[in-house]
Amino acid sequence: MQVKIVIGTVAFMMTMMLFGYAALREPARLERFAAADLGRNIEKGAELYVNNCATCHGAAGDALDCFNAAGEPIACIGLPLKDEYLLCGEPSNRLIDQDYKFTVRDYIYGTIYAGRIGTQMPTWSAELGGPMEGYEIENVTQFVLNWRPELCTTEGPPPYEWPLTVTELLAAEGVTTPGDATRGAELYDRTYACTSCHGNPAQAGSARVGPWLGDLAARGGSIVDGYAAADYLYESVLAPNAHIAAECPTGPCGMPSGMPGNFGTRIRDPQSMIDLMTFILGNNLETTGVEIEYTRR
Ligand code: HEC
Ligand code: HEC
Repeated sequence: MQVKIVIGTVAFMMTMMLFGYAALREPARLERFAAADLGRNIEKGAELYVNNCATCHGAAGDALDCFNAAGEPIACIGLPLKDEYLLCGEPSNRLIDQDYKFTVRDYIYGTIYAGRIGTQMPTWSAELGGPMEGYEIENVTQFVLNWRPELCTTEGPPPYEWPLTVTELLAAEGVTTPGDATRGAELYDRTYACTSCHGNPAQAGSARVGPWLGDLAARGGSIVDGYAAADYLYESVLAPNAHIAAECPTGPCGMPSGMPGNFGTRIRDPQSMIDLMTFILGNNLETTGVEIEYTRR
Protein backbone atom coordinates (compact mmCIF):
# COMPACT_ATOMS: atom_id res chain seq x y z
CA MET A 1 0.00 0.00 0.00
CA GLN A 2 2.66 2.43 1.20
CA VAL A 3 4.90 1.52 -1.75
CA LYS A 4 2.07 1.99 -4.20
CA ILE A 5 1.43 5.50 -2.88
CA VAL A 6 5.09 6.36 -3.19
CA ILE A 7 5.27 5.01 -6.72
CA GLY A 8 2.05 6.83 -7.51
CA THR A 9 3.39 10.10 -6.13
CA VAL A 10 6.71 9.80 -7.93
CA ALA A 11 4.96 8.96 -11.19
CA PHE A 12 2.65 11.91 -10.72
CA MET A 13 5.55 14.26 -10.06
CA MET A 14 7.49 12.98 -13.04
CA THR A 15 4.49 13.46 -15.28
CA MET A 16 4.11 16.99 -14.00
CA MET A 17 7.77 17.69 -14.65
CA LEU A 18 7.54 16.37 -18.18
CA PHE A 19 4.39 18.33 -18.96
CA GLY A 20 5.75 21.39 -17.25
CA TYR A 21 8.87 21.19 -19.33
CA ALA A 22 6.85 20.69 -22.50
CA ALA A 23 4.60 23.58 -21.55
CA LEU A 24 7.61 25.84 -21.09
CA ARG A 25 8.92 24.92 -24.52
CA GLU A 26 5.51 25.19 -26.14
CA PRO A 27 5.70 28.74 -27.59
CA ALA A 28 8.99 28.01 -29.35
CA ARG A 29 7.64 24.75 -30.69
CA LEU A 30 4.44 26.33 -31.91
CA GLU A 31 6.42 28.99 -33.68
CA ARG A 32 8.53 26.37 -35.44
CA PHE A 33 5.41 24.47 -36.45
CA ALA A 34 3.74 27.63 -37.67
CA ALA A 35 6.82 28.57 -39.72
CA ALA A 36 6.98 25.11 -41.29
CA ASP A 37 3.24 25.28 -41.99
CA LEU A 38 3.52 28.68 -43.60
CA GLY A 39 6.42 27.40 -45.71
CA ARG A 40 4.31 24.50 -46.96
CA ASN A 41 1.35 26.79 -47.63
CA ILE A 42 3.50 29.14 -49.67
CA GLU A 43 4.81 26.22 -51.71
CA LYS A 44 1.28 25.04 -52.44
CA GLY A 45 0.33 28.61 -53.22
CA ALA A 46 3.20 28.85 -55.71
CA GLU A 47 1.90 25.84 -57.57
CA LEU A 48 -1.63 27.25 -57.65
CA TYR A 49 -0.25 30.57 -58.84
CA VAL A 50 1.74 29.11 -61.73
CA ASN A 51 -1.24 27.07 -62.89
CA ASN A 52 -3.97 29.68 -62.48
CA CYS A 53 -2.63 33.22 -62.27
CA ALA A 54 0.58 33.48 -64.28
CA THR A 55 -1.23 33.70 -67.66
CA CYS A 56 -2.55 37.14 -66.68
CA HIS A 57 -0.24 38.38 -63.90
CA GLY A 58 3.06 37.01 -65.25
CA ALA A 59 5.21 34.16 -64.02
CA ALA A 60 7.20 36.57 -61.86
CA GLY A 61 4.10 38.46 -60.72
CA ASP A 62 5.14 41.70 -62.40
CA ALA A 63 2.66 41.41 -65.29
CA LEU A 64 5.51 41.54 -67.81
CA ASP A 65 5.97 37.96 -69.02
CA CYS A 66 2.77 36.02 -69.72
CA PHE A 67 2.31 32.79 -71.65
CA ASN A 68 -0.72 30.86 -72.86
CA ALA A 69 -1.29 27.15 -72.25
CA ALA A 70 0.81 26.33 -75.33
CA GLY A 71 3.73 28.30 -73.86
CA GLU A 72 3.52 31.13 -76.40
CA PRO A 73 4.08 34.67 -75.11
CA ILE A 74 0.87 36.71 -74.80
CA ALA A 75 0.01 40.19 -73.52
CA CYS A 76 -0.43 40.33 -69.73
CA ILE A 77 -3.90 41.60 -68.90
CA GLY A 78 -3.66 41.43 -65.09
CA LEU A 79 -2.18 44.08 -62.81
CA PRO A 80 1.30 43.62 -61.36
CA LEU A 81 1.11 41.83 -57.98
CA LYS A 82 4.79 41.74 -57.12
CA ASP A 83 4.57 45.44 -56.72
CA GLU A 84 5.50 47.88 -53.95
CA TYR A 85 2.38 49.85 -54.67
CA LEU A 86 0.20 46.88 -53.73
CA LEU A 87 2.31 45.08 -51.13
CA CYS A 88 4.48 47.51 -49.22
CA GLY A 89 3.17 49.39 -46.22
CA GLU A 90 0.11 48.66 -44.09
CA PRO A 91 -1.95 50.16 -45.58
CA SER A 92 -0.09 50.11 -48.93
CA ASN A 93 -0.65 52.98 -51.35
CA ARG A 94 -2.97 50.76 -53.39
CA LEU A 95 -5.25 50.42 -50.35
CA ILE A 96 -5.07 54.14 -49.64
CA ASP A 97 -6.06 54.94 -53.23
CA GLN A 98 -9.03 52.57 -52.95
CA ASP A 99 -9.97 53.88 -49.52
CA TYR A 100 -9.84 50.24 -48.38
CA LYS A 101 -10.01 49.90 -44.60
CA PHE A 102 -8.65 46.41 -43.94
CA THR A 103 -5.23 44.78 -44.41
CA VAL A 104 -3.24 44.04 -47.56
CA ARG A 105 -3.80 40.34 -46.87
CA ASP A 106 -7.58 40.89 -46.73
CA TYR A 107 -7.49 42.93 -49.93
CA ILE A 108 -5.65 40.20 -51.82
CA TYR A 109 -7.70 37.36 -50.33
CA GLY A 110 -10.93 39.21 -51.02
CA THR A 111 -10.01 40.00 -54.62
CA ILE A 112 -9.11 36.38 -55.35
CA TYR A 113 -12.19 35.11 -53.50
CA ALA A 114 -14.72 37.26 -55.33
CA GLY A 115 -12.83 38.26 -58.47
CA ARG A 116 -13.60 41.69 -59.83
CA ILE A 117 -16.91 42.11 -61.58
CA GLY A 118 -16.72 43.86 -64.91
CA THR A 119 -13.03 43.01 -65.37
CA GLN A 120 -11.22 39.91 -66.52
CA MET A 121 -10.22 38.98 -62.96
CA PRO A 122 -12.16 35.74 -62.38
CA THR A 123 -14.01 34.68 -59.22
CA TRP A 124 -12.05 31.86 -57.59
CA SER A 125 -14.07 30.86 -54.53
CA ALA A 126 -15.96 27.56 -54.70
CA GLU A 127 -18.62 29.27 -52.59
CA LEU A 128 -19.25 31.61 -55.52
CA GLY A 129 -18.93 28.91 -58.16
CA GLY A 130 -15.18 29.19 -58.70
CA PRO A 131 -12.57 26.41 -58.61
CA MET A 132 -10.79 27.08 -55.26
CA GLU A 133 -11.46 26.18 -51.64
CA GLY A 134 -10.82 28.76 -48.92
CA TYR A 135 -7.52 27.19 -47.83
CA GLU A 136 -6.27 27.26 -51.42
CA ILE A 137 -7.11 30.95 -51.73
CA GLU A 138 -5.24 31.48 -48.45
CA ASN A 139 -2.23 29.61 -49.85
CA VAL A 140 -2.09 31.76 -53.01
CA THR A 141 -2.54 34.85 -50.86
CA GLN A 142 0.43 33.80 -48.71
CA PHE A 143 2.44 33.17 -51.86
CA VAL A 144 1.76 36.72 -53.09
CA LEU A 145 2.50 38.22 -49.65
CA ASN A 146 5.78 36.32 -49.62
CA TRP A 147 7.12 38.78 -52.23
CA ARG A 148 7.14 41.40 -49.51
CA PRO A 149 10.54 40.81 -47.87
CA GLU A 150 12.34 41.10 -51.19
CA LEU A 151 10.26 44.03 -52.40
CA CYS A 152 9.64 46.19 -49.39
CA THR A 153 12.99 46.47 -47.67
CA THR A 154 15.29 47.50 -50.51
CA GLU A 155 15.82 51.21 -50.41
CA GLY A 156 16.33 52.79 -53.80
CA PRO A 157 16.70 56.51 -54.46
CA PRO A 158 13.53 58.40 -53.52
CA PRO A 159 10.97 58.73 -56.34
CA TYR A 160 11.02 61.86 -58.45
CA GLU A 161 8.79 64.65 -57.13
CA TRP A 162 6.53 65.23 -60.11
CA PRO A 163 5.48 68.85 -60.60
CA LEU A 164 1.74 69.33 -60.91
CA THR A 165 1.76 71.15 -64.25
CA VAL A 166 3.15 70.21 -67.65
CA THR A 167 4.61 73.74 -67.83
CA GLU A 168 6.88 72.97 -64.87
CA LEU A 169 7.58 69.46 -66.15
CA LEU A 170 8.88 70.89 -69.45
CA ALA A 171 11.01 73.40 -67.52
CA ALA A 172 12.36 70.85 -65.04
CA GLU A 173 16.09 70.67 -64.47
CA GLY A 174 18.03 68.58 -66.97
CA VAL A 175 15.15 68.31 -69.45
CA THR A 176 15.70 68.80 -73.17
CA THR A 177 12.78 69.43 -75.50
CA PRO A 178 11.47 68.29 -77.84
CA GLY A 179 11.51 64.79 -76.34
CA ASP A 180 13.04 61.76 -78.02
CA ALA A 181 10.16 59.78 -79.57
CA THR A 182 12.36 56.77 -80.34
CA ARG A 183 13.35 56.44 -76.70
CA GLY A 184 9.70 57.09 -75.80
CA ALA A 185 8.64 54.15 -77.99
CA GLU A 186 11.12 51.92 -76.17
CA LEU A 187 9.73 53.03 -72.79
CA TYR A 188 6.15 52.59 -73.99
CA ASP A 189 6.72 49.19 -75.49
CA ARG A 190 9.24 47.49 -73.22
CA THR A 191 10.13 49.29 -70.01
CA TYR A 192 6.57 50.12 -68.92
CA ALA A 193 4.70 47.71 -71.21
CA CYS A 194 1.97 50.24 -72.03
CA THR A 195 1.64 48.22 -75.25
CA SER A 196 0.31 45.17 -73.43
CA CYS A 197 -2.86 47.09 -72.57
CA HIS A 198 -3.01 50.02 -75.03
CA GLY A 199 -1.63 48.28 -78.13
CA ASN A 200 0.48 49.92 -80.79
CA PRO A 201 -0.42 53.60 -81.37
CA ALA A 202 0.42 53.16 -85.07
CA GLN A 203 -2.19 50.42 -85.44
CA ALA A 204 -5.86 51.10 -84.73
CA GLY A 205 -7.67 48.20 -83.06
CA SER A 206 -4.51 46.79 -81.45
CA ALA A 207 -5.47 47.76 -77.86
CA ARG A 208 -6.70 44.94 -75.61
CA VAL A 209 -7.36 46.36 -72.15
CA GLY A 210 -7.13 50.17 -72.13
CA PRO A 211 -8.19 52.68 -74.84
CA TRP A 212 -6.12 52.92 -78.03
CA LEU A 213 -3.84 55.94 -77.76
CA GLY A 214 -3.02 56.45 -81.46
CA ASP A 215 -5.61 59.24 -81.70
CA LEU A 216 -4.98 60.78 -78.27
CA ALA A 217 -3.30 63.88 -79.79
CA ALA A 218 -6.56 64.62 -81.61
CA ARG A 219 -9.07 63.78 -78.84
CA GLY A 220 -7.05 64.28 -75.62
CA GLY A 221 -7.82 68.01 -75.43
CA SER A 222 -11.59 67.52 -75.24
CA ILE A 223 -11.85 64.90 -72.49
CA VAL A 224 -11.49 66.93 -69.29
CA ASP A 225 -12.50 70.61 -69.13
CA GLY A 226 -9.52 72.93 -69.15
CA TYR A 227 -7.01 70.19 -70.04
CA ALA A 228 -4.92 70.05 -73.23
CA ALA A 229 -4.02 66.56 -74.52
CA ALA A 230 -0.58 66.75 -72.81
CA ASP A 231 -2.17 67.67 -69.46
CA TYR A 232 -4.60 64.78 -69.76
CA LEU A 233 -1.89 62.29 -70.71
CA TYR A 234 0.39 63.46 -67.87
CA GLU A 235 -2.44 63.05 -65.36
CA SER A 236 -3.53 59.69 -66.81
CA VAL A 237 -0.04 58.25 -66.34
CA LEU A 238 0.46 59.51 -62.77
CA ALA A 239 -3.09 59.21 -61.47
CA PRO A 240 -5.18 56.76 -63.54
CA ASN A 241 -8.16 57.14 -61.21
CA ALA A 242 -8.36 60.94 -61.49
CA HIS A 243 -10.44 60.51 -64.63
CA ILE A 244 -11.68 57.18 -65.98
CA ALA A 245 -11.84 56.89 -69.76
CA ALA A 246 -15.29 56.04 -71.13
CA GLU A 247 -14.58 53.29 -73.62
CA CYS A 248 -12.22 50.36 -73.18
CA PRO A 249 -11.76 47.64 -75.85
CA THR A 250 -13.89 45.22 -73.80
CA GLY A 251 -16.69 47.72 -73.01
CA PRO A 252 -17.00 50.66 -70.64
CA CYS A 253 -13.78 51.16 -68.60
CA GLY A 254 -14.17 49.99 -64.99
CA MET A 255 -13.68 51.99 -61.80
CA PRO A 256 -11.13 51.71 -60.19
CA SER A 257 -8.85 51.94 -63.18
CA GLY A 258 -7.36 48.72 -64.49
CA MET A 259 -4.20 50.74 -65.15
CA PRO A 260 -1.38 50.37 -62.63
CA GLY A 261 -1.24 53.36 -60.28
CA ASN A 262 2.49 53.19 -59.67
CA PHE A 263 4.02 54.88 -62.73
CA GLY A 264 4.72 57.92 -60.53
CA THR A 265 7.35 55.89 -58.72
CA ARG A 266 8.37 53.60 -61.59
CA ILE A 267 9.16 56.41 -64.02
CA ARG A 268 12.31 57.84 -62.49
CA ASP A 269 12.93 61.18 -64.19
CA PRO A 270 11.17 63.98 -66.10
CA GLN A 271 12.99 63.34 -69.39
CA SER A 272 11.56 59.81 -69.55
CA MET A 273 8.06 61.19 -68.99
CA ILE A 274 8.57 63.73 -71.76
CA ASP A 275 10.00 61.13 -74.16
CA LEU A 276 7.01 58.90 -73.47
CA MET A 277 4.57 61.77 -74.01
CA THR A 278 6.39 62.80 -77.20
CA PHE A 279 6.05 59.28 -78.57
CA ILE A 280 2.27 59.38 -77.96
CA LEU A 281 1.47 63.00 -78.83
CA GLY A 282 4.31 64.19 -81.08
CA ASN A 283 6.68 67.11 -80.52
CA ASN A 284 4.04 69.63 -79.58
CA LEU A 285 3.31 69.17 -75.87
CA GLU A 286 1.03 72.20 -75.64
CA THR A 287 -0.44 72.78 -72.18
CA THR A 288 -3.05 75.01 -70.60
CA GLY A 289 -0.90 75.07 -67.47
CA VAL A 290 -3.64 73.40 -65.44
CA GLU A 291 -2.70 71.60 -62.19
CA ILE A 292 -3.27 67.87 -62.51
CA GLU A 293 -4.86 65.82 -59.76
CA TYR A 294 -1.96 63.92 -58.29
CA THR A 295 -0.83 63.22 -54.75
CA ARG A 296 2.92 62.78 -54.45
CA ARG A 297 4.19 59.81 -52.48
C1 HEC B 1 -2.46 46.81 -67.17
C2 HEC B 1 -3.01 47.58 -68.25
C3 HEC B 1 -2.48 48.99 -68.49
C4 HEC B 1 -1.17 49.42 -68.59
C5 HEC B 1 0.10 48.59 -68.45
C6 HEC B 1 -1.22 50.82 -68.91
N1 HEC B 1 -2.53 51.23 -68.96
FE1 HEC B 1 -3.16 53.10 -69.41
N2 HEC B 1 -5.09 52.51 -69.10
C7 HEC B 1 -5.50 51.23 -68.81
C8 HEC B 1 -6.93 51.22 -68.65
C9 HEC B 1 -7.78 49.99 -68.32
C10 HEC B 1 -7.39 52.52 -68.88
C11 HEC B 1 -8.83 53.01 -68.83
C12 HEC B 1 -9.24 53.41 -67.44
C13 HEC B 1 -8.70 54.74 -67.07
O1 HEC B 1 -9.08 55.74 -67.70
O2 HEC B 1 -7.88 54.83 -66.14
C14 HEC B 1 -6.19 53.32 -69.16
C15 HEC B 1 -6.20 54.67 -69.46
C16 HEC B 1 -5.13 55.38 -69.96
C17 HEC B 1 -5.19 56.69 -70.54
C18 HEC B 1 -6.47 57.48 -70.77
C19 HEC B 1 -6.98 57.05 -72.14
C20 HEC B 1 -8.24 57.71 -72.65
O3 HEC B 1 -8.62 57.40 -73.78
O4 HEC B 1 -8.88 58.49 -71.93
C21 HEC B 1 -3.93 57.03 -70.93
C22 HEC B 1 -3.51 58.30 -71.62
C23 HEC B 1 -3.06 55.93 -70.56
N3 HEC B 1 -3.82 54.94 -69.98
C24 HEC B 1 -1.69 55.90 -70.80
C25 HEC B 1 -0.87 54.84 -70.44
C26 HEC B 1 0.58 54.84 -70.59
C27 HEC B 1 1.40 55.94 -71.20
C28 HEC B 1 1.02 53.64 -70.09
C29 HEC B 1 2.45 53.18 -69.91
C30 HEC B 1 3.32 54.07 -69.17
C31 HEC B 1 -0.14 52.90 -69.65
N4 HEC B 1 -1.26 53.65 -69.87
C32 HEC B 1 -0.10 51.61 -69.11
C33 HEC B 1 -4.69 50.13 -68.68
C34 HEC B 1 -3.31 50.14 -68.71
C1 HEC C 1 -7.92 36.03 -67.09
C2 HEC C 1 -6.96 36.88 -66.46
C3 HEC C 1 -6.71 36.77 -64.98
C4 HEC C 1 -6.43 35.65 -64.24
C5 HEC C 1 -6.36 34.22 -64.72
C6 HEC C 1 -6.18 36.11 -62.90
N1 HEC C 1 -6.31 37.46 -62.82
FE1 HEC C 1 -6.05 38.60 -61.14
N2 HEC C 1 -6.60 40.25 -62.20
C7 HEC C 1 -6.87 40.27 -63.55
C8 HEC C 1 -7.23 41.63 -63.92
C9 HEC C 1 -7.61 42.10 -65.31
C10 HEC C 1 -7.15 42.40 -62.74
C11 HEC C 1 -7.43 43.89 -62.61
C12 HEC C 1 -8.91 44.08 -62.39
C13 HEC C 1 -9.29 45.53 -62.35
O1 HEC C 1 -9.29 46.15 -63.40
O2 HEC C 1 -9.52 46.04 -61.25
C14 HEC C 1 -6.75 41.50 -61.68
C15 HEC C 1 -6.58 41.89 -60.35
C16 HEC C 1 -6.06 41.09 -59.37
C17 HEC C 1 -5.73 41.51 -58.03
C18 HEC C 1 -5.94 42.90 -57.45
C19 HEC C 1 -4.74 43.76 -57.77
C20 HEC C 1 -4.93 45.19 -57.35
O3 HEC C 1 -3.91 45.92 -57.31
O4 HEC C 1 -6.06 45.63 -57.13
C21 HEC C 1 -5.22 40.44 -57.37
C22 HEC C 1 -4.71 40.40 -55.94
C23 HEC C 1 -5.23 39.33 -58.31
N3 HEC C 1 -5.75 39.76 -59.50
C24 HEC C 1 -4.78 38.06 -58.01
C25 HEC C 1 -4.93 36.98 -58.86
C26 HEC C 1 -4.59 35.62 -58.49
C27 HEC C 1 -3.94 35.21 -57.19
C28 HEC C 1 -4.92 34.83 -59.55
C29 HEC C 1 -4.86 33.33 -59.63
C30 HEC C 1 -5.60 32.61 -58.64
C31 HEC C 1 -5.45 35.70 -60.59
N4 HEC C 1 -5.43 36.99 -60.14
C32 HEC C 1 -5.85 35.27 -61.85
C33 HEC C 1 -6.84 39.22 -64.42
C34 HEC C 1 -6.63 37.91 -64.07
